[in-house]
Amino acid sequence: MKTDVYYFTGTGNSLAVAKDIAKEIKGEFISIPSVIGENNIRIDAKAIGIVFPVYMWGVPLIVERFIKKIENLNEKYIFAIVTYGGMPGSAINILEKIIERCGGKLSAGFKVHMPGNYTPMYGAIAKEKQQKLFDNWDKKVKIIAEYVKFNKQGKKENNNMLINFIFSGIIYKILAKNIPKMDKQFWSDEKCNECGICQKVCPVNNIEMIDSKPSWKGNCEQCFACLQWCPEKAIQYGKNTSTRERYHHPNANISDIIKRVRND
Ligand SMILES: Cc1cc2nc3c(=O)[nH]c(=O)nc-3n(C[C@H](O)[C@H](O)[C@H](O)COP(=O)(O)O)c2cc1C
Ligand code: SF4
Ligand code: SF4
Repeated sequence: MKTDVYYFTGTGNSLAVAKDIAKEIKGEFISIPSVIGENNIRIDAKAIGIVFPVYMWGVPLIVERFIKKIENLNEKYIFAIVTYGGMPGSAINILEKIIERCGGKLSAGFKVHMPGNYTPMYGAIAKEKQQKLFDNWDKKVKIIAEYVKFNKQGKKENNNMLINFIFSGIIYKILAKNIPKMDKQFWSDEKCNECGICQKVCPVNNIEMIDSKPSWKGNCEQCFACLQWCPEKAIQYGKNTSTRERYHHPNANISDIIKRVRND
């Protein structure tokens, strides 16, 4: 059965996961930003995988917009894989409800622990710790592939109910509507060399260059690609990020991240 794996990523974890699962199940992998500009999305594949990072214990807004645009969701076998840095909450449960509201059904949802990339709270974890997480994923990808290849149903890897209720049920709902404007906290410091990479890696064209320096337009996904991929570490968020180690998945490079915007 033909399967399309759609992914969203800021720093490459979800790209690596999407690539690996697509390879295991012999599917295609397609970036969500490359199709999000279409009015309606019609998918020919019989099965769809959706891979994305957990943001604020919930689902990135672009993933919700993507699902709402799929015309023929009700005909598909749908599975999801969320990547997260430590506390996934019930992102899978939130996704399931979005899919149901659009007439579809989430058949299986998996979570994959990856290095965190939320620099306002922490820097990149040590390389050895990162490697352990990647090794775990190398094992888990085979298990997930066996499950979804045969269109199995029912597995949903959510967190415990109370945590879900507090973080995903209350906090995510409050934060989500403010996400587009959270870019007010980004700024570039004196290290900026005007290379323009931040503008190119933004999946939603939310950065314009004014006098060759980045300026954020208030329509942000909070993917942190701009901050993480700036070669000079010149992009900051709030007050505490300048000394924190940046992160991206070791197998992802800037051209993968730029390409994901157009998928060429
Ligand atoms: C704005 C933002 C919010 C995040 N919120 C969470 C969270 O609630 N729980 C969690 O475990 N990780 C959280 N993370 C970490 C990412 O989910 C994790 O690092 C993910 O694998 C990044 O995927 P990517 O490399 O494909 O962008 C957050 C990251 C960002 C940038
Ligand atoms: S990527 Fe960094 S150095 Fe390049 S223009 Fe943007 S802020 Fe400046
Ligand atoms: S402005 Fe930065 S954080 Fe916001 S969507 Fe663009 S790249 Fe991601």
